[in-house]
Amino acid sequence: MSTIILYYSLGGRTKVEAEKLAVQRDAELYAIEEVKRRNILNALIPGCFHSRKRKASEIRPLSIDLNGFDRILIGAPIWGGFPAPAFNTVIQLLPENKEVEVFLCSGGGSSALSEEGTRHMLTDRNCTLVEYRDIKTGK
Ligand SMILES: Cc1cc2nc3c(=O)[nH]c(=O)nc-3n(C[C@H](O)[C@H](O)[C@H](O)COP(=O)(O)O)c2cc1C
Repeated sequence: MSTIILYYSLGGRTKVEAEKLAVQRDAELYAIEEVKRRNILNALIPGCFHSRKRKASEIRPLSIDLNGFDRILIGAPIWGGFPAPAFNTVIQLLPENKEVEVFLCSGGGSSALSEEGTRHMLTDRNCTLVEYRDIKTGK
């Protein structure tokens, strides 16, 4: 089974988790980059506001074809209780009928506030959410 891990990371913690998973799963690793580079300040404002609104951000075009993978893992940090905006962009790019796993990194280890909606985003794209995981990374 061919697997790819798409991850967005601002501070490097999601990247570390993605790298671990890539080894465990023998998966290809792909870093999602926003066109407008963020710093901590514009991650807080407007980043948190946008994540809470489920707004997508502009990312650099993917240089891979997601259709070529059987399973797609998506990792992102939690901002203000919701996945960071780049996560929403990736969801929009998913081919239909894919098996998807989500891993969300947060200081507190919980995305409870947004989990149900995030699950719906995947099913709305006709993808099967095989696993949803919260990872506690600390602040
Ligand atoms: C703008 C911003 C908002 C955050 N909001 C939350 C939050 O609501 N709940 C939480 O547990 N952690 C929150 N955190 C902590 C991050 O989710 C956590 O440190 C994550 O692992 C960072 O991933 P990264 O290093 O890949 O960017 C926030 C961090 C930032 C920068």
